[in-house]
Amino acid sequence: MNTTCSLRRLRNLHVNIIKRHHALRYKSNSCINTNEFVLYDQLISKRRSQSKCSVLVQVSSENSCSDLFSYCSKFGSIKNMFHYQLTDSNHFVLTEFEEQSAVNNLFDQSTHLEDSNVIAVRSPFLWFRSNSSKKNSKLITENNFNFPFQANQIMIEPSVQNIGLEKLDSLSKQMLLLLEHTQLNDLGTRLRFLTAMQVENALKGIFPLSKILPFGSTVNSFGKIGSDLDLVFMNNKVTKNLTNRLVYHSKCMSSGRSQIQRHIEILGDLLQLFLPGCSRIKRISQARVPIVKYFQDFVGLECDLAISNETAVNMSELLYIFGNFDQRVRPLVFTVKMWAREINLTNDTPGKWITNFSLTLLVLFYLQQEKIIPAIDILVKEANNNDLRITNEGINCTFLRDVSKLSRTVQNEKTLDQLLLGFFDYYALFDFQMNAISLNVGKTIKKPEYSALYIVNPLETNFNVSKNLSLEEMERLRIELRNAAWLIESSLKNKDSFNLLELFKGEALKRNQKVFKIQHKITNSNRLVTVKDLFEDDSEIEENKKLKKQLET
Ligand code: CTP
Ligand code: MG
Repeated sequence: MNTTCSLRRLRNLHVNIIKRHHALRYKSNSCINTNEFVLYDQLISKRRSQSKCSVLVQVSSENSCSDLFSYCSKFGSIKNMFHYQLTDSNHFVLTEFEEQSAVNNLFDQSTHLEDSNVIAVRSPFLWFRSNSSKKNSKLITENNFNFPFQANQIMIEPSVQNIGLEKLDSLSKQMLLLLEHTQLNDLGTRLRFLTAMQVENALKGIFPLSKILPFGSTVNSFGKIGSDLDLVFMNNKVTKNLTNRLVYHSKCMSSGRSQIQRHIEILGDLLQLFLPGCSRIKRISQARVPIVKYFQDFVGLECDLAISNETAVNMSELLYIFGNFDQRVRPLVFTVKMWAREINLTNDTPGKWITNFSLTLLVLFYLQQEKIIPAIDILVKEANNNDLRITNEGINCTFLRDVSKLSRTVQNEKTLDQLLLGFFDYYALFDFQMNAISLNVGKTIKKPEYSALYIVNPLETNFNVSKNLSLEEMERLRIELRNAAWLIESSLKNKDSFNLLELFKGEALKRNQKVFKIQHKITNSNRLVTVKDLFEDDSEIEENKKLKKQLET
């Protein structure tokens, strides 16, 4: 009770500070602008078309770009050229043509290495041989200084320390700056779709209806420059056509797990043996969702390729809808994800820690509490015939896609900094032991089974998205949530402004431990405790362990 009161007092104080300093406020029309909202299917289709009109060419230096422009112009009109470097000596140019036919011309008139050990493979990844006649090259440069060229595009995520967060006086502005500097950019998205197209093209001869689709953070609007690339092999359903009397002979395929595991092995071999740039191949066929992991050297990307995971594609669409529902969703998710990464709550390797996906769902659930985004059940209720989707795996993924049509009654005007503090406050007081989080109903429900954290999978509601999270990691998350809330509140109280970098410093927390302890010395029954208190008193963990044992017996 005491803690709740003090939290409320601090929150009021915080709101007053914000009013005093005229912190950045979102306009009241921060919701989807009907004219701007792009349907997910349209976005995917546009990006796929771009990738079909594009090739990635390695060049010796930025100086070769105009020469490349002249050379490639003979295949068709060039729309865009983006230059980037992965290392000092690795220069690449993503070249987009106006028409796909130009790419086909280019493929027909490109050659392979004259080496008997090399297998000739057609792929959108090529390199540009230097011109023996330097004179000719110079002439071309002079003629074409006006070509559609963008040099030195950013392909490596900057460190949060180097983006100038400290120069901005308001937390909201810092959150927007963080988003601007770390979100997946246009070139990054193009290269991801081209990476998918490389595999799709390689399989086209034998599987003419198949597609390789990016999913996950590449397309769900929460992708960072450095996020991995999740890909799925989708074998499109054949549409009934009784007028075609010649039918291809084909082999029957079981949809069982062992079949998928074999396919993963084959895909792994294909990437390893034949596809340029694909390295560090790992076949992870024993996972719940079997995948091939690989690195695409030319784009500097970690890739995970799965088979037929249609539900995950629909999940990406659902997150995309939420990410675009209100302007505040993405900066908030980015800040929380960055916070978790900087203090090592998340980890690039899968394991017992919280994932970015779970964190994203936690933020979305909080925004449902704030009535900024709707419960999924509302999207399901409003769905029309075009939204009907049952996946190959038998999962019902029907929900309203065109949410610009959704009527909005509640207007929440909270600023980003209020929401960030609100997020930490909300989960600092959350009863993770008893409650599960359901984005479907937009409310907490009773935990159906023992788990450190239970987030109902929005599309497969019998599953827990965060089942992987260990008790110890959950405890660390709780500590950090509470301390983040405390850090923002106390900093605003003392200094009237807060630097986001403070939140990202593990050391800052340690440094402040003593102060925390004096200011927030509270009993076990109170929710907001200090880092040290929790490290010293792990009775709750013990309690959890006992409860788990009881449930198991
Ligand atoms: N996914 C899911 N259920 C899970 C885990 C993942 O449906 N239990 C789907 C989600 O659509 C998720 C995608 O798989 O977005 C990719 O998972 P992952 O790469 O772990 O998360 P991302 O959202 O891509 O985030 P990151 O930027 O960390 O890669
Ligand atoms: Mg991912």
